[in-house]
Order: sequence, then C-alpha cells, then structure tokens
Amino acid sequence: MPILPVEAYTSQDWYDREQERIFSRTWAFAGLVGDVREPGQYISVQAGLNNIFIVMGQDGQLRAFHNICRHRGTQLLRAVGNTKKVITCPYHDWTYDLEGCLLSVPDRRNQFPALDMASLGLKKASVASWRGMLWVHPDENADSVEDWFGGVEPYLGPHSVEQLVEYKSGRAEYTVAANWKIVVENYIDGYHLAHLHSGTLSIYDHRRIESGFVGPHFFFWEPLSPEYAANVEKNASSPLVIPAEQAGAWVPMLFPGIGLAENEDSWSVFHLTPLAPDSTRVVVRTKMADASLLAFASQSVRSYSFWSGRVRGKYDSDDGDDPMASGDFMQEDIYACEQQQKSLQSPYFEHGPSAMNGEAGVRRHQEVVMAWLGEEQ
Ligand code: FES
Ligand SMILES: [Fe+2]
Repeated sequence: MPILPVEAYTSQDWYDREQERIFSRTWAFAGLVGDVREPGQYISVQAGLNNIFIVMGQDGQLRAFHNICRHRGTQLLRAVGNTKKVITCPYHDWTYDLEGCLLSVPDRRNQFPALDMASLGLKKASVASWRGMLWVHPDENADSVEDWFGGVEPYLGPHSVEQLVEYKSGRAEYTVAANWKIVVENYIDGYHLAHLHSGTLSIYDHRRIESGFVGPHFFFWEPLSPEYAANVEKNASSPLVIPAEQAGAWVPMLFPGIGLAENEDSWSVFHLTPLAPDSTRVVVRTKMADASLLAFASQSVRSYSFWSGRVRGKYDSDDGDDPMASGDFMQEDIYACEQQQKSLQSPYFEHGPSAMNGEAGVRRHQEVVMAWLGEEQ
C-alpha cells in the first residue's frame, strides 16, 4: 500500500515542512552551463526557502550568494540578467562587488558612522556544474555535487550534454495543478507508460524497463521498440545524439524534483518547483544535435514513413484543446496528474493497491520523502 497519507498532497503544513527539510537542504538545479558565460552575468533560482543567484566574477569564476541585501533584506537581483561590475540593491543603493563584498553605502558617514563593512558581505551559497547543468546549495559548506549524484551517474546516458545545442523551441513551461509529489510519482511510474501513453510512447519497449534507486535518486532505462530499433538512424525524427548501437531512453528523477530524459535524439531536463500544495511549475529545457537546419529537415523527411500514423491521442476528439487527444505525452501526463489531485479532495477517495513492480518506484519515493521529513513510517 502507499506510504504517504492524503494530507501529504494537500496540506500547507506538509508543504511547508518539505520546503524547509527537503528543498532547502538539497542541491537545486539552477540552469544549463551556457546560461552564465561572461563576467557580471547571473541567474537566480528558488531553492526551497532560499533565493540564490549565481554570478560570474571578473575572474571568470562562478559564485553563488543568497539573494538578500545585508541592509534590510531586499532581493538584489531579478531572475536573469547582467549586472556588469557591481550589484546594487534597488532599495537604498547599497552596492556589492561580484565577490559579494560590500563596497558602498549611501550617506554612510552620517547614517552609519560605525559601520563594519567587512562583516556585511553577501552570504555565500555553493555552486557547481555537473553534466552540463548548474547547481546551487544553500549551505556554502555543502557536500559536493559529485557526492550527491555520484552513485546514480553510472545509470545515466552516454550523452555529452555540453556538446548539444538548446534551440529556441527547446524550452517549455507548465503550471500543473497538482502537488509536486504527484508529478514526481507520475514520472517514475513505469506502469502507466504502456497505457496512458499507448499512442505517444510506443517507440520504447516498456517490457524491458530497468529501474531502481541509488540513495534518494531514481534511475530508469528502457530500450527502443524492435520496429524503431530496426533502423534507428533512418527512423529517428531528428539527428541522433548518441551512437545508434546505444540508442534507448534514460529517464532518471534526481531527488527531489529534477527529471532528465536522455534519449537517442534529444536530451531534456524537467525542473519541478513546488508553488503551493496543489500547484507545481515544470520547466522543460531540451538540447538536440549540433546540426544544421538542413540536417534536421532531411532527417524529418527520411523518418516520415516510420512516424506516419504512429503517434495518436489516447481519445478521439474533435476538441482541439483536449489533452487526451493531443498526441503529446506531456499533455497526457499533466492531465492524469491534475485529475488525480482533484480526487484527493473527495471524502470518498482511498488509496488503491500499488503495482508490485510497475509502481515500486512510487512507493520508494514516498519512503524517501518520509525519511527526509523525519516522519515515522
Ligand atoms: S535593503 Fe538593500 S539597501 Fe536597503
Ligand atoms: Fe507519463
């Protein structure tokens, strides 16, 4: 039977404890390595209760700081941008250098005659890059990102993430009306693949899934379906990003909410941010082969006969907005998550039996959440 009670998916109290004990104490995905390329450029990310920014210094080093002015706490930087040589708080113009030292305070002699500037530098956080992604941790002395993810690394794809290219169309953002754990559980549920996605993910062989956990992280691999694999170089809809003989899908969910989808012709990160007990933002960023427009177009033509009639919606519908008729697996997943969340409100809801193998990961993830919250099982 499932481990977590209904309140875990609906109550503000659970949500608050998860923010404090899970999302504020783990490495958080902040972006892709190319997002911060020049001195002064920065990105910021919400990591549980902490807003953290990464900025490149004049020396080319990446540094991470808590996005909190040391005067009265105003957030210093907005989501992304370039702050040039200094960071100036919008409220009273206290100014810091890119290494976080406080440089100047307006009217300092009159207003703060005894100010100890040296003790008022920005609070440091940890920053690291791993597999072409940027990560932050609120604790400046956090264990390394390699320690955190090292155990799961052998179960990830052979992709050279930094060699791949993020095209404009490769970015999508969704607000899902469901608790973040519903979204994660959907991601690691192997049982639904052949059913909810019967018309959208039939190019993989769901009978040969290999999945499990390393620490809190879920790993997953499945091979191509025999028809697709028969000539994947021709059948893939875009140029391959890994050698044909290694083609398959690696779809891990790194704790607490960073999914990867690494397959034969693309690489994606699914970054979940809980917004409320029943709301989760999902940002998807996809990289593909570093190839010309012509190469993409000719691969699309080459694979046309394989794909024609192969992707279809779960339901037939004349409603162009029906996610279940969209033929888009992401729309199908969001639909399923939102319908599940709605039912949790009903007094008639009770947890049903859980599939022995196909939903083992779902149960394990619930145990991991319980352990991080320090809850008894
Ligand atoms: S709060 Fe930043 S300068 Fe006052
Ligand atoms: Fe799915």
